[in-house]
Amino acid sequence: MDPMHPSTQTVCKLADLPEGSSRGFSIRTGADCEDIFLVHKNGRILAYINSCPHTGGPLDWVPHRFLNLDGELIQCATHDALFRIEDGVCIAGPCAGRSLTPLQVEICNDDVRLLTE
Ligand code: FES
Repeated sequence: MDPMHPSTQTVCKLADLPEGSSRGFSIRTGADCEDIFLVHKNGRILAYINSCPHTGGPLDWVPHRFLNLDGELIQCATHDALFRIEDGVCIAGPCAGRSLTPLQVEICNDDVRLLTE
């Protein structure tokens, strides 16, 4: 794959991800599938791999619920680690200082697309 021209993969419509919400998806990566999630916060769409740096498990117990109660931080349901939405850095919990794995996204014609290498 040409790193100068990454390919894209449409994940959902922007309308499916209202401001302040989060959603999980399984996307195809070659022959495999990978679980990711998106967060729409302050007009930005952030995307991360759905894998907590503490154990490698998924962050959500309830499907699509990745945010804490006030919607200001990403929360892992297993041991309550808290991550900043804007950069995925863990600020509290057993993996403090470590980060979620970010993915690049773009909005094109109301489609939320992942940029894949
Ligand atoms: S698995 Fe996420 S905090 Fe332990």
